[in-house]
Amino acid sequence: MFRVLAADSIAKEGMAALESESEVSVIYGKAEDIQDPESIDALIVRSATKVTKELLTRFKNIRIVARAGVGVDNIDLDAATENGVLVINAPDGNTISTAEHTFAMIMATLRKIPQANQSIKDGKWSRSSFTGAELSGKILGIVGLGRIGTELAKRARAFGSKVLVFDPFLTTERAKTLQVAPVTLDELLESSDIITVHTPLTKETKNLINADNLSKTKKGVYLINCARGGILDEEALYTYLSNGHIAGCALDVFVQEPAVENRLVHLPNVIATPHIAASTAEAQMNVAAQVAQEILAFSKGKPVKNA
Ligand code: MLT
Repeated sequence: MFRVLAADSIAKEGMAALESESEVSVIYGKAEDIQDPESIDALIVRSATKVTKELLTRFKNIRIVARAGVGVDNIDLDAATENGVLVINAPDGNTISTAEHTFAMIMATLRKIPQANQSIKDGKWSRSSFTGAELSGKILGIVGLGRIGTELAKRARAFGSKVLVFDPFLTTERAKTLQVAPVTLDELLESSDIITVHTPLTKETKNLINADNLSKTKKGVYLINCARGGILDEEALYTYLSNGHIAGCALDVFVQEPAVENRLVHLPNVIATPHIAASTAEAQMNVAAQVAQEILAFSKGKPVKNA
């Protein structure tokens, strides 16, 4: 029997491919609650479980770790390699949900919807406090034109924005097709009314939007991060939000999660969600189904696609 531990909240409906296989058994539960870790052959996680060296030592017979999502930054890839553990992800199952959430965050920030909602719930009718800004005619700067950045660009174009993109891998042809303008990071920082980041968190992107880069942005700029905490330098962000240089900021991700202690979320010009950009029924079904198919293939000795 090939035993799969689905830790974190994995959509069960997406696991049909594994559930229906007589040679596979799926266990749902937290890694720390498993009494016989050596009996587990495969692990599926979202972002809550940190796949550390210690975890891989405890689950010493695991041969594959699947991330039901995109980012594998909660998995110690060096430790996995050392232990001969294959790491896979579900690269496109939550693209639309994440792009839509980012778009919703942009609109909610520009129109101050969460603040207005809170105000009316507090019994106030304060129309003059919530004058917003239109997206139409604004310059949207997208850092990283992968799957999510691309979907966001299409939506922003439909709303009448001019889209600037900083992405070293963007070809002129693709930029033309998507009707976006390829620019340097400095050009994007200097010209954009709204800046949104869509890169993984790597050594190169950690604190990419730092104090130095924020000083190049327009006064009144909006910043959006639905990618990974740490791409925006949180200290610098706090300073530039507090002094009013940044007009508004929407955050779905944080350096430390859960981010209940994060002082950024208490600033009036910040709106925040608890890392839910990919939390839709559709996306969770898609990513679970994607990793289930991959693990099934692996259990039968067949090749996997998203390693
Ligand atoms: C991802 O990396 O896919 C997203 O952050 C969503 C998630 O953590 O589930």
